[in-house]
Amino acid sequence: MGPAAPAAADPGATVRPVPGGSADEAPGGGDIATETVVVLDFGGQYSQLIARRVRECGVFSELLPHTVGADELRRRAPDAIILSGGPASVSAPGAPRLDRDLLGLGIPVLGICFGMQLLAAELGGEVETAEVGEFGRSQLTVTEPGQLLAGLPREQPCWMSHRDTVFAPPPGFTALAASSASPVAAMEDPRRGLYGIQFHPEVVHTPYGQAILETYLRTICGLRARWTPAGFIDEQVARIRAQVGTGRVICGLSGGVDSSVAALLVHRAVGDGLTCVFVDHGLLRKDEATQVIAAFKDHFNVDLRVVDAEARFLDRLAGVVDPEAKRKAIGAEFIRVFEEEAARLDDARYLVQGTLYSDVIESGGGTGAATIKSHHNVGGLPADLDFELVEPLRALFKDEVRRVGAELGLPERLVWRQPFPGPGLAIRVVGGAATKEKLDTLREADAILQDEIRRAGLYRELWQSFCVLPDVRTVGVQGDGRSYGRLVAIRAVTSDDAMTADWARLPYDLLERVASRMINELAEVNRVVLDVTSKPPGTIEWE
Ligand code: XMP
Repeated sequence: MGPAAPAAADPGATVRPVPGGSADEAPGGGDIATETVVVLDFGGQYSQLIARRVRECGVFSELLPHTVGADELRRRAPDAIILSGGPASVSAPGAPRLDRDLLGLGIPVLGICFGMQLLAAELGGEVETAEVGEFGRSQLTVTEPGQLLAGLPREQPCWMSHRDTVFAPPPGFTALAASSASPVAAMEDPRRGLYGIQFHPEVVHTPYGQAILETYLRTICGLRARWTPAGFIDEQVARIRAQVGTGRVICGLSGGVDSSVAALLVHRAVGDGLTCVFVDHGLLRKDEATQVIAAFKDHFNVDLRVVDAEARFLDRLAGVVDPEAKRKAIGAEFIRVFEEEAARLDDARYLVQGTLYSDVIESGGGTGAATIKSHHNVGGLPADLDFELVEPLRALFKDEVRRVGAELGLPERLVWRQPFPGPGLAIRVVGGAATKEKLDTLREADAILQDEIRRAGLYRELWQSFCVLPDVRTVGVQGDGRSYGRLVAIRAVTSDDAMTADWARLPYDLLERVASRMINELAEVNRVVLDVTSKPPGTIEWE
């Protein structure tokens, strides 16, 4: 992919080689699915998305660095291989190469963008850097459908992002399609099980992309849709039982979807063997604690210890203004409270963590607590607690966690909860210390915003929506008098993964309702503003 590729998160860029240890095990442990597709990552913007699209076809997929060689792949024996796109030019010195032995494993290979160029270059096709690149929407003309494009319209839009271009396919290959800038936009050699497409089937701008992936996985590779939430739950339950036996398991519940789903899975596996600890630090959103208690204690009968630690946290936060100092204070206090609670369960040997596949990829695929991003440890737990980790979500992307949560019967409100930072509302009182009075105002303002956003049916469309309370006062006129009240800022963003985000274009009438409710219902608020900063250059949170 070239420099003009559309601005988007680049998850591929964070992928580092799999360290030795993790290669022994698939992220979920190796046998979570009988059919597996390996996506070899050449550093493309959309590599994670390819893995997710494959899973949407009902087939388990793993993203591995391109440095994983043929020997390792022979050992893993995936049912299909996909070579991702990547930023390099195949002819550039030091560009990633294709391990030729990989093509002799008898496993079908589909190259996408740079992946197709690699196939073409390695096997004797003609690949050149074109004078004009092809970035964005293109029109594809199918000249010979072959296996890969069978049943698709002759003309169709597709998304391109490349400068190197395949001008002639390698011997044995048939060219299947062309665009104005790509004489060979798709090619195949079914006898050797090799396929290539220049465009990106994984992005929504290629409307037949998912159909092409389905054809590759089902018709060509003969895979069936077996990767389902129900199947995943059964396998994880068996795995958790095998890991912990009759040992006691402890889980720090935050109310977020990851820890909730992880806890429910473990509960299904070991029932009363699980004890959950919910630390209410007083920095939560309105009614959050009540909802968690209602779901876990009352509905699922989980042994839930609720620690009301609001006073402790407020004490600890008194006078703390600096954002990092706030995070550190909250993190340290959280650990102390959790450790005290864990000490009451002196037979607990196992600790549940809601680590996701994206965390595993971003931290290089290693195992254990050391792989958890520092961000996640804020308001979380340190690596050196003396527990063996139970991480049932290590193989899942966030959207899959939600599907598993729904299948387990987790209430819709918890399944679809927007991400919420561990340090909670404390880092949304900005430029000042978080006090009970400010937190209460913020909590009420936030509840009004959430209420209106839900009513407008927009909650799920937004990555996050929340209020910020800058520690300033502004002058207003209310009734016949001058007011000197609090300012509330509305922050709502769309995003796929929080790496980049755009400010959400909330309807004006919704904004008006929110602002007027806040000012009418909250005596101390006299001004409401909207944050229209994207990320970058801003961050999602204000501090
Ligand atoms: P920023 O503000 O860096 O946030 O754009 C990216 C995502 O991370 C969340 N966030 C946090 N999560 N502890 C957390 O658990 C934290 O200290 C923290 N700070 C930010 C933020 O809400 C967004 O989803």
